[in-house]
Amino acid sequence: MSFRTTAAVDHVEDVSPGRGALPPRAWYASSDAASLSLNGRWRFRLSPTADAEDDSFAVPGHDTGDWAEVSVPGHWVLQGHGSPIYTNHLYPFPVDPPRVPTENPTGDHLRVFDLPRDWPADGDAVLRFDGVESCARVWLNGTDIGDFKGSRLPHEFAVGRLLKPSGNVLAVRVHQWSAGSYLEDQDQWWLPGIFRDVTLLHRPAGAAGDFFVHASYDHVTGEGTLRVDSDVAGRVTVPELDVDVATGETVTVPVEPWSAEVPRLYDGVLATGGERVPLRVGFRTVALRDGLIKVNGKAILFKGVNRHEWHPERGRALDLGTMREDVLLMKRHNVNAVRTSHYPPHPAFLDLCDELGLWVIDECDLETHGFVEQDWRDNPVDDDRWTPALLDRAARMVERDKNHPSVVVWSLGNEAGTGRGLTAMAEWIRGRDTSRLVHYEGDVTCRDTDVYSRMYAFHDEVERIGRGLDGGPHKRRELPFVLCEYAHAMGNGPGGLADYQKLFESYDRLQGGFVWEWIDHGIAHPELGFAYGGDFGEELHDGNFVCDGLLFPDRRPSPGLLEYKKVIEPVRIEGDRTGGTVRVTNRHDFADLSALAFEWSYQVDGETVESGPLPVPALAPGESAEVKLPEPPVEAAGGAETRWTVRALLAAGTAWAPWGHEVAWGQVPVAARSVPSVAAAARPVLAERLITLGPASFDARTGALRAVGGVQVTGLRLDVWRAPTDNDDGAPWQSDVRFGPLWRKFGLHRMRHRLDAVEPGDDALTVRTRVAPAAWEVGLDTVYRWTSDGSRLRLTVSVTPEGDWAVPLPRLGIRFGLAQADSVTWHGGGPGEAYPDTRSASRLGRWTSTVDDLQTPYVRPQENGARADVRWARLGGLRVDGDPEFSFTARRWTTEQLDAATHLSDLTPGDTVWVNLDHRQHGIGSQSCGPGPLPRYFLRPEPTEFSFVFSQAD
Ligand code: GAL
Repeated sequence: MSFRTTAAVDHVEDVSPGRGALPPRAWYASSDAASLSLNGRWRFRLSPTADAEDDSFAVPGHDTGDWAEVSVPGHWVLQGHGSPIYTNHLYPFPVDPPRVPTENPTGDHLRVFDLPRDWPADGDAVLRFDGVESCARVWLNGTDIGDFKGSRLPHEFAVGRLLKPSGNVLAVRVHQWSAGSYLEDQDQWWLPGIFRDVTLLHRPAGAAGDFFVHASYDHVTGEGTLRVDSDVAGRVTVPELDVDVATGETVTVPVEPWSAEVPRLYDGVLATGGERVPLRVGFRTVALRDGLIKVNGKAILFKGVNRHEWHPERGRALDLGTMREDVLLMKRHNVNAVRTSHYPPHPAFLDLCDELGLWVIDECDLETHGFVEQDWRDNPVDDDRWTPALLDRAARMVERDKNHPSVVVWSLGNEAGTGRGLTAMAEWIRGRDTSRLVHYEGDVTCRDTDVYSRMYAFHDEVERIGRGLDGGPHKRRELPFVLCEYAHAMGNGPGGLADYQKLFESYDRLQGGFVWEWIDHGIAHPELGFAYGGDFGEELHDGNFVCDGLLFPDRRPSPGLLEYKKVIEPVRIEGDRTGGTVRVTNRHDFADLSALAFEWSYQVDGETVESGPLPVPALAPGESAEVKLPEPPVEAAGGAETRWTVRALLAAGTAWAPWGHEVAWGQVPVAARSVPSVAAAARPVLAERLITLGPASFDARTGALRAVGGVQVTGLRLDVWRAPTDNDDGAPWQSDVRFGPLWRKFGLHRMRHRLDAVEPGDDALTVRTRVAPAAWEVGLDTVYRWTSDGSRLRLTVSVTPEGDWAVPLPRLGIRFGLAQADSVTWHGGGPGEAYPDTRSASRLGRWTSTVDDLQTPYVRPQENGARADVRWARLGGLRVDGDPEFSFTARRWTTEQLDAATHLSDLTPGDTVWVNLDHRQHGIGSQSCGPGPLPRYFLRPEPTEFSFVFSQAD
């Protein structure tokens, strides 16, 4: 005998989008129609398979006394039931579309509700689910009202006839896996559950159904044209514009346009017989003209980020405050665009983009990346049976989001290969909405798209594309270029942002890009700090590849975000020591500079001695001016380094930042520093087992520095090792050489220090060594030369590489331990970390930090926290002056401990503060999913000499 267990689960493995839902429509909040949020605590029962339990729970009166509870919106795996799984592109189940495993965690959700007393007796009602992963079947008061897939898309059901004044029983069965999972293979956690709002909406007779606001802007006449097409006839009013027209009627009036820079919205109302719907109208025209993306007649430059929805405790169940925080953080960091990778976000996020101003690429909930493992065989996007599901997804996105002025581009999805289904989606979208462009990165022929889009292309290729030398299919050659993903922000990095930006600003065809990605998807974990792939015992996972954002999981900006803010600043302030002027350039696409106030300040040895306002004309976009600086406020004392800092600040508070918020800055050097000279006047003196030289003492046998004055120093020696960053290690699939693994192969983490000679001379102590790894012939001939003028101690390190070095060095400098050092003060780059290709945001000045605050909390510990271009630093009772400038790190653990740690919780402070003073570090790059550092940021082994002057700090 053979039988299938139950017909009730057939919809789970059915390629169709579902059954019973209403046609998709615009998402809006009515002014006057009643609604009831069904968010809150729901009864919950988890079953290991899709049909382990019958569906009698949906029948009113079912006893749920022994059920658990979960919060809706929410994911049950983040509420103590089962656990999350992280994979990048591998399906965590056998690829046998549309079948899914028998082990299919299934969450039964139940909520009993009463209608509010004033719920209207007439009219209909709609039950709306804004997001359920991955497949749901719904019963209201025992009646099966339908099922659906399409996790990050809304589904509505007509339920008026089923409602009772009280005791309504809403039952939702959610399966983790379904045919829909094959279309949702995005690089993120698999998180089942009802993770967006559930709402009951009253639909009065004559309610507005679906409507489409068409609001364009003619940049030649300065007029906006408005027409609202609506299923239900009504009137459209926009009081500020004296507009009062019927739906379907076109009106043209002078308006101020909407842009991401000046997000001008006009409040309006659509009034039908049954309800009033608030409208927020932004007039703007998006077009492909002269091979460029133009908005309101102007080519725009995307300074974007890819945003997944993420909260470290709630996963993709985001509250409004978190969404707002994302938009505010973006605006405050000069980001002007967001790609909603890789699914339509909660609709409230788009309201915020309209209101605060961000260009949006709205991406459909579609990715079939796992099929790449079988050369895309059986890819659903190239199989007609799946096309209805794809079209359903396209329609649900477009219909829901079509009234947002911020949405300028529709994206078909991400990493889904190529196929007829994508073409069908593009054709449907174009038929429905001619006012926006279509994007999809996965088809390099650009057959269905208006933009040539790529991810992680290297700088040199981007430049070729910018110059139009990339060839390719004819259609593609005519299209503008966008990097829909670049600058992989995993761990320390991304490096090379400034180099990309320079290209974007140099070639018209390059219309910017979107950094991958906005936020680390670390999950708050009681023992580990933040958990990543593998921390929940997944059999397949991709480790910390899920932590690759510009924000840490708790939304603290990483150094990468500060770097990005500086690189994309909309005002450029430059100058050199010659002119007594600064050159100010307005790099906005639309706004003049009238919203900004400029301020100068003057620094002597890093300290600001005076500041004042700097009048700058309200330059139009693209304009520059040479602006005269005042006379230097003080005579520089001999040898002091002086400079101007000019900052552009918000002249008044905006919706996204208060008055005084810094938008851009630049520095202009005046007098250069003079490096402290140390006359070699003192003589090394041998006494007992020590050699003393000026304020210092050394071990007479090994030549090791023991103390400078009263400050004990341990383990001072050459250091070339850093705990490899995710970008040093690189992604396994990279075809370019990856230095992290090579560094380990060549033993740079286990260098041996051979002592060749300790030579006290007339005016110097010279210590000769050879630093080299076991098993290899390469080495670094290293000479430490110590001199003193009696109070100060100068160390000159001379390094001569020997043998055939096939790799650059991670770092080159010295390291030593100090017994005490709680805080550091320095004159140099700050306040945050900087490496050779991530140092745009590092501002020269005088900074102070505790040792603890110097650490950057990358979710997977790795090299971090270096302060660059340091003239001098004071810590632990010592002052160190660099000749030339240096970079330093200071930590309560060794580099070896940092290297061994997998989570922040592995780092426990020891008694010693380990200090690295680096002559140089190797660049960072973004090889965790892109190019490594550009060759100009390599730290190549070559004969090198550098010095430090130590003295006791006052
Ligand atoms: C891209 C993909 C993203 C993410 C990124 C690496 O290929 O579109 O979703 O996986 O790589 O972090």
